[in-house]
Amino acid sequence: MSLIKQIEKLREKALDELEGADDAREIETWRICYLGKKSELNDILRSLPRLPLNKRKDVGAAANRLKKELEESLGQREQAIGQKQIESAGEARLDVSLPGRSLPIGRLHPVTQVIDEMSQIFVSMGFQVLEGPEVEWDYYNFEALNIPKEHPARDTMATLWVDYETGDGDRQMLMRTHTSPMQIRVMENKKPPLRVVVPGKVYRYEATDATHIPMFYQIEGFAVDKDITMADLKGVLYEFSRRFFGRDRKVRFRCDYFPFVEPGVEMAIECAVCKGGGCRLCIDSGWIEILGAGMIHPKVLERVNIDPEFYSGFAFGMGIERVPMLRYGIDDIRLFYSSDLRFLRQF
Ligand code: PHE
Repeated sequence: MSLIKQIEKLREKALDELEGADDAREIETWRICYLGKKSELNDILRSLPRLPLNKRKDVGAAANRLKKELEESLGQREQAIGQKQIESAGEARLDVSLPGRSLPIGRLHPVTQVIDEMSQIFVSMGFQVLEGPEVEWDYYNFEALNIPKEHPARDTMATLWVDYETGDGDRQMLMRTHTSPMQIRVMENKKPPLRVVVPGKVYRYEATDATHIPMFYQIEGFAVDKDITMADLKGVLYEFSRRFFGRDRKVRFRCDYFPFVEPGVEMAIECAVCKGGGCRLCIDSGWIEILGAGMIHPKVLERVNIDPEFYSGFAFGMGIERVPMLRYGIDDIRLFYSSDLRFLRQF
């Protein structure tokens, strides 16, 4: 067999086998076999110098051409296999027809949502939103609000005292029992006109049941200016009720007593759970009291150096949890803080 024929056969065999090499190891075996030092092709190339001149040229050209062709084919095959591996690995990892995995996304707590919504309503009426400390001095929580020591009103707000010895009875610390101390803190620092709402946590030392928990939220609101009257208070609260509960929900005002307002009122909303018929939430009355309010007591204004001869103000303090309870007909306040996602996810 002539060398040219041999080269021709070798080419066919090599290319044929290369087609069948399916992974990196098979390709390497192939390379050693057809392009390695001990390969048939290398033998031919090495034998060239010994060939007669007339043959050497043709055989040399054919052998070198084959070497080049095999090297190129090897490169192509390697690329093709690399690509195939990437594709099959991709197929195993990514099935584009699978439904997507949903990410668990958190949401705002219903009470937070209500605070945001209420603040929004008051902001649109010209109020600014402020926050205050939860650990408070006796002075701001009681004394400056016209509730001196031994005043019976102290008994209506079972207080969590903070163990903080000053040796000075007037400087006792406590967990604020309402957001009203912020009336004093704000009025001490800013002069009228004032329109402020203060959402935040308050604490009472009380047993837990369907309508009571020891930590809950209030939103305080107050306005101080020349010529503020009870009509302004009612106007703001009616408007709030219309915007928040809707036009049809009945609202009731009654006289009430708080030492830091005069006159004082309470506002109640028709119960959403029983629609006035009577249930556990409204304790069979058909109404739910949601806030206390009134005209800021002149003594309170005097204490913060606002002259009650020129200025007057109203204030209200609303329990926040009751509001989503009324709105959605929830009959147990404890649900808000039991961390049950089945409940919380509904809002
Ligand atoms: N601070 C009172 C309470 O918690 C509510 C209130 C606020 C009453 C402002 C009148 C004026 O019960």
